[in-house]
Amino acid sequence: MSSYFTQTEAAFAAFNQDPNALLLGIESSCDETAAAVLRGGREVLSMAVHTQIPIHRLYGGVVPEIASRSHTERITAVVDEALQKAGVTVDDIGAVAVTCAPGLIGALLVGVSFAKGLAYAKKLPLIGVNHIEGHIAANYLTYPDLEPPFMCLVASGGHSHIVLVHDYDEFELIGRTRDDAAGEAFDKVARALGLPYPGGPEVEKLAREGDPRAYPLHTPFNSDLSVFDFSFSGIKTAVVNLMHNAAQKGEEINRADIAASFQHSVVETLTMKSVRAALDRGMDTLALAGGVSANMALRTRLEKECRKAGIRFCRPDMRYCTDNAAMIACQGYYRMQKGERSDLDLNPSAGSFLSK
Ligand code: KG4
Ligand code: ZN
Repeated sequence: MSSYFTQTEAAFAAFNQDPNALLLGIESSCDETAAAVLRGGREVLSMAVHTQIPIHRLYGGVVPEIASRSHTERITAVVDEALQKAGVTVDDIGAVAVTCAPGLIGALLVGVSFAKGLAYAKKLPLIGVNHIEGHIAANYLTYPDLEPPFMCLVASGGHSHIVLVHDYDEFELIGRTRDDAAGEAFDKVARALGLPYPGGPEVEKLAREGDPRAYPLHTPFNSDLSVFDFSFSGIKTAVVNLMHNAAQKGEEINRADIAASFQHSVVETLTMKSVRAALDRGMDTLALAGGVSANMALRTRLEKECRKAGIRFCRPDMRYCTDNAAMIACQGYYRMQKGERSDLDLNPSAGSFLSK
């Protein structure tokens, strides 16, 4: 235990007892540098995000080294912007929450090092937050009354899981992708279709003009509702093969139909399996989280199936779907309320699921 940890003991207790205490959140796990100020656990006073998408688009995907350097350049300005937008200074902040896993290690190191420096200098309590838990917490920001337990479908660029959220700090893995994450599959199919990075929103846009039943891309494994795991790599390969075969035969292929059929297959799999998982475990609420939760086809389909099944459907406001620091601060708040905090040896890790 460091002297910092002892010195911040009183500040930690004071933070947990004050419902109006301000929390600074920091996120730098991938290609967004983000900061946010929260009052209590759920009131977002400000958000600031610098996206690196235009930089990485030149390379067709995230270049880790470039991401780290961009975070380093921007993080101070992004934190300043969040403080300014909230109308506060760093002296008003009561604690710091930062993403510490999973993500690109060099990118995570920038946010974690910055947060540790700030916590040390200002003698503020610090909490390291798991990024996936943060995505789930985006729902608390959207629904003030939402509390665990509930079932959650997490679909992001790096992860796709069905998770039973027993408590703010207790998670049970119910199902997961056996290979590609949903967002990753969207990005790869986008590349095959000649669409820019990130592919999810681009595929969604193109799919609006296509016929979702033009190409049957369902697999027996994904249609089997007795298993909560799923797999997207086969569908992605089927799309790539369709494109290659058409090219070899010199045939015109309808790209919108492909986009729509692919999206339909992913949406059906995620919807049917997560609703069944919720019912199986007696949950009356199903929440959606992660970057893919911005997909309107998925939101609409889940809403309809949940209504049919008689369960509540929650999904984050659009601004909390993709990477942001408000969701990280929110999850950090609840972990601190459980008595948890980090010391200055907080060290990010690239890969982990729902644990640090
Ligand atoms: O959660 P996120 O911002 O980053 C990770 O934690 O991975 O998710 C990014 C992923 C990308 O793969 C992106 O293509 C996907 O979310 N995505 C979408 C949509 N918006 C973002 N996928 C489908 N439809 C969308 N509208
Ligand atoms: Zn994310």
